[in-house]
Amino acid sequence: MGRLIVVSNRVSMPTPDGAQGGLAVALQAALRESGGLWFGWSGREVDKFTGSVSFEEISGVRSAVVDLEPQDVEEYYNGFANRTLWPLFHYRIDLAKYNRSFGSGYERVNKRFAEPLHVMIEPGDTVWINDYHLIPIASQLREHGIRNKIGFFLHTPWPPTRLLVSLPYHERLVRTMFDYDVLGFQTAEWLESFLHYCQNELGGTIDGEYVSFEGKTLRAVVCPIGIDFENFLQASKTDAAQALSERVKVSLRQLSMIVGVDRLDYSKGLEERLNSYEHYLQKHPESHRAVVLIQVAPPSRGEVEHYQHVRDHLNAMSGRINGAFAEVDWTPIRYVNRGYNRDELTALYRAARVGLVTPLRDGMNLVAKEYVAAQDPDDPGVLVLSRFAGAAAQMQEALLVNPYAPEEVADALHKALTMPLTERKQRHAALLEGVKNEDVHWWREKFVRIIEETDCRQGVAAQ
Ligand code: ADP
Ligand code: G6P
Repeated sequence: MGRLIVVSNRVSMPTPDGAQGGLAVALQAALRESGGLWFGWSGREVDKFTGSVSFEEISGVRSAVVDLEPQDVEEYYNGFANRTLWPLFHYRIDLAKYNRSFGSGYERVNKRFAEPLHVMIEPGDTVWINDYHLIPIASQLREHGIRNKIGFFLHTPWPPTRLLVSLPYHERLVRTMFDYDVLGFQTAEWLESFLHYCQNELGGTIDGEYVSFEGKTLRAVVCPIGIDFENFLQASKTDAAQALSERVKVSLRQLSMIVGVDRLDYSKGLEERLNSYEHYLQKHPESHRAVVLIQVAPPSRGEVEHYQHVRDHLNAMSGRINGAFAEVDWTPIRYVNRGYNRDELTALYRAARVGLVTPLRDGMNLVAKEYVAAQDPDDPGVLVLSRFAGAAAQMQEALLVNPYAPEEVADALHKALTMPLTERKQRHAALLEGVKNEDVHWWREKFVRIIEETDCRQGVAAQ
């Protein structure tokens, strides 16, 4: 039995305040159980790329990381990954930048990662690549003669064909995906978009889960990611969780709390969320001095302009709304630009009557699942969830909203805050079952089993 080799740009690094994003949180949980190796970028920059690998043991997971050059980071991470693919994959072609150097930097860095990686892969290992930073890496590994099974999981949405074709060289990118055995998507919607592209742009053929193009075949499946449910429950019992829980209780007094927890990213719909909350305050004067929104949003990808804009805009909006509605003894929004560790997060979620999760587009959104996991089943809060988050496909018992429609979100907030206990318990019990059963271990086992059982490359000397 070979090892599991997981590859992603971001490898989980212990940070005092968490906020690494869903991929790192989930993969760390998955790898802790399976053993294996996690390969990726160290997050560090060096003058000259050497490809030398440092091995580290991070929270019980063996990691192998390489450093990148400043130009790599600029063209690959800040450039093609986060200025081009991230907005495009979240349907924001208005924000996507197409710069040829980003594309060449992206291919260069994928090649650079493949160099040390291919040497580490042994016959029988299963290789699992993650996310939009590393789409072409399977082609690079195949060029190095790697014949192992390779799966790719996309944590973000896959955009509709008519948006994807705005990417110069889109075909060149998608062609490289045929060097994988398996592709995993979070929802049926993203999978359908991928299949549509293959059929209509590439002229490929589809037979059930199998897609063929120019003599190569891959298997494309839906496999929604979950949270580390048990670990999350344990975290809620620690001293840190209890301490924050007490502090929050004291500071809330009689206030009903609404919570938002997100990386500071335009895809999370934070401006629209504050706008909706303002509508709610306007429409419901009885909420004044009775409700508070705690929005936790640590900065993310700060070198990319649109992240700076959204940060500035949110500072201004939260200040303006607080200025307009606050009283000497009440502030409607507490806007916090830092992360919290997992233990503390469980306390924040549990103290909140409403979990407000309203991304404009999101591959999955683990915060929605964490909020449900953290609730007291005897007196649970209510999840208000964007219908455009991948999580909505599995979480139909949440109050589903269109995040672009402030009146609709305001009405959902009112409904959530006034919902009778029986309905809250019914909705929560149904949601909890899904979050508990389809957790991160379920996801890993399912996806790895699919990679292992799939044989798309019979013609190639299999190892
Ligand atoms: P994304 O991967 O786009 O950031 P997700 O909701 O899927 O969105 O995952 C976010 C992960 O990062 C969750 O596990 C969440 O707990 C964590 N996280 C988000 N914001 C914070 C924060 N302010 N402090 C600590 N952890 C955070
Ligand atoms: C999302 C992406 C991940 C990424 C994370 C945090 O979850 O799908 O690939 O790691 O955001 O973003 P960052 O740029 O800080 O790695």
